[in-house]
Amino acid sequence: MANPILQPYAKGSLTLKNHLVMAPMTRSRAIDNIPNELMCEYYKQRTGAGLIITEGTSPTPEGLGYPRIPGAFSEEQVKGWKLTANAVHAGNSKIFMQLMHTGRIGHEDNLPDGVKLVSASNLKAAGQIFTDTKGLQDHTQPEALTTKGVKEVIEGHVSAAKNAIKAGFDGIELHGANGYLIEQFLNPNCNNRTDEYGGSIEGRSKIVVELAEQISDAIGKDKVGIRFSPYLTMGDLAAYDADDVHETYKYLAQELNKTGIAYIHISFSPKIPQGTLNVVRDSFQNTIIYCNGFTPETAEEALAKGTADIIAFARSFLANPDLDKRIAEKVPLNQPDPTTFYTPGAKGYTDYPVA
Ligand SMILES: Cc1cc2nc3c(=O)[nH]c(=O)nc-3n(C[C@H](O)[C@H](O)[C@H](O)COP(=O)(O)O)c2cc1C
Repeated sequence: MANPILQPYAKGSLTLKNHLVMAPMTRSRAIDNIPNELMCEYYKQRTGAGLIITEGTSPTPEGLGYPRIPGAFSEEQVKGWKLTANAVHAGNSKIFMQLMHTGRIGHEDNLPDGVKLVSASNLKAAGQIFTDTKGLQDHTQPEALTTKGVKEVIEGHVSAAKNAIKAGFDGIELHGANGYLIEQFLNPNCNNRTDEYGGSIEGRSKIVVELAEQISDAIGKDKVGIRFSPYLTMGDLAAYDADDVHETYKYLAQELNKTGIAYIHISFSPKIPQGTLNVVRDSFQNTIIYCNGFTPETAEEALAKGTADIIAFARSFLANPDLDKRIAEKVPLNQPDPTTFYTPGAKGYTDYPVA
């Protein structure tokens, strides 16, 4: 029998031609932060996925922490993204734009002139980030957002979500994972705020709940998803009390269920206790996506267990534009080349061979 991952999927208002998702991947090909024809070609090649989630795309100028990542805040960016949305729809696939505000993970050299790096607090992330000006540099010290500033960031996301719809996208995914702005609010080691957006689980989660509600009001709840990475510590986020993490994601799943958004996307890891995965599953009725380290075989097992509804592949899709066909015909997969993950141009981007 064909792998269940290739069978059509429907839950709530999300209907897909299969259970195969292309995971969000930053590829740094957006010169001047504007999506272009090369990016359109890359996504078009990968429309074997039922759902494509784009690379992290900044909702606002100060969220452009990495070089050459696209934005969704200018007319030119909307125009550029239209090419991709049209090509993906012509391939009978759906596409959500991942809204990624990098927060303190960034460098001022990557930001437009005069724009400041911001975060939940003024706590600088250890480590370095690539810049086109001077190669690897230490992260810039962020400024703590004022309460008004947080509300402006939320408005920026709402406006970017409207732009995604204007460009023809089927929806947006909030990047609540991997140590970027949203997770900088969720993690108490990085959020020392004393206003309504800090402190308790409810306080630290408030930005997520408000983003989900306000974007749902603006574009429709069926067009909103979110990605989380509970218990992971990317972006210099120190681990915090395991019970606190569990309660945080339980609360978020319950609140997001009330809002009725389309999906929760989990960066899976063996570090996540089964109890937390279960509570998210039990609290949230719509689609649950798992990603991280899946092979066609382990994806089939996860679907059979029913813990996840659909499965996302990142590096396998990066290196195999025809991943769906390779799964169907059990063709070995090309290996990704990490040296071209973030380099500009077509090499290592649109030139992976099909079987
Ligand atoms: C080149 C590259 C860029 C990535 N960029 C993003 C990103 O923009 N947003 C995001 O949520 N995850 C990003 N990720 C993480 C992937 O979505 C995924 O979680 C990770 O690669 C593990 O999945 P895999 O084992 O299928 O590759 C990136 C991964 C890679 C390899």
